[in-house]
Amino acid sequence: MKKVGILTGGGDCPGLNAVIRAVVRLAAQKDVEVIGFQNGWKGIIDGDIVKLDLFSVSGILPKGGTILGTSRTNPYKNPGDVQKLIATYKKLGLDALIAIGGEDTLGVANKLHNDKLGINVVGCPKTIDNDLSGTDFTFGFDTAVNIATEAIDRLHTTAESHNRIMVVEVMGRHAGWIAVYSGIASGADVILIPEVPIDLNEVCDIVKKRHARGKGFSIIVVAEGAEFKAGQVVTKEQILDSFGHVRLGGIGEILAAELEKRTGYESRVTVLGHIQRGGTPSAFDRVIATRFGVKAMELVLDKKFGRMACLNGTEVNDVPLQVAVGSLKTVDMKLYDIAKLFFV
Ligand code: F6P
Repeated sequence: MKKVGILTGGGDCPGLNAVIRAVVRLAAQKDVEVIGFQNGWKGIIDGDIVKLDLFSVSGILPKGGTILGTSRTNPYKNPGDVQKLIATYKKLGLDALIAIGGEDTLGVANKLHNDKLGINVVGCPKTIDNDLSGTDFTFGFDTAVNIATEAIDRLHTTAESHNRIMVVEVMGRHAGWIAVYSGIASGADVILIPEVPIDLNEVCDIVKKRHARGKGFSIIVVAEGAEFKAGQVVTKEQILDSFGHVRLGGIGEILAAELEKRTGYESRVTVLGHIQRGGTPSAFDRVIATRFGVKAMELVLDKKFGRMACLNGTEVNDVPLQVAVGSLKTVDMKLYDIAKLFFV
């Protein structure tokens, strides 16, 4: 192993720089050169590179975002892009490629591996949504949960002062992990997730019961991908990214309006949006991101391609990329049952 490429794809996430730093630092000790690709798969298609050394990764551990930039470019979308990607890989004389991403970015990595195109790829599990299979946690999730929890704590005091229903919309496209963790942590009165269709009557009943026993306010946490019973995903715009995902956001607004109409209580909505993805990673995320980066580099050195670093309990291991992207890791219903005990 002499030369390794690295890229960050999909939505940015706290901890990406910690992974890059870990890879570069370990590589330097093994005399391996690291080439960074700018803006995800787009960078390797376009040959947009930056050399990474100890100097370039100095001081980036606590920085949010990614020093490499990111994009939602899917090389399998446009004919010819995969060939361009292979050409860059060969021209640079790379021995391996480390892809840091979620289901889409690692889906591409897995396809490149399965298509046997001569690209030696390993993966690192990133996403605030925590919905990748094969790993107990992805990095970025803990930070997002902490940000959402603090925001909900703050909304609690204003909800209480004004006797309002506060609807808080958090991220979570297909899985409600952020909603469930931040909702439990902040004592939300109802938590609504994509895995369970929203029953408006049930939500109204809970709110009314609270009022009847003298609680003049309620906190409702809703994941952006949650849907009403027998309804469609609520979206503001029907813009699709190159992986075919609609841009979400809007369920909170509709929910707050419906609750106000049906209960008569004043309702407000706060959409946390990208605030959950920005800024410095939590200590937990810095540690697992660093451990994932070390593992990814070890997989490269051991020539264990087509695999992803993962966390099982407290141990960092590796799983086939196929396992990671084969199915979505949705919310553990035993955990959701615990959350529901507090919907009173
Ligand atoms: O996948 C992570 C995520 O933050 C989702 O929760 C959210 O739906 C999506 O990315 C938002 O993507 P973008 O930043 O492209 O709007």
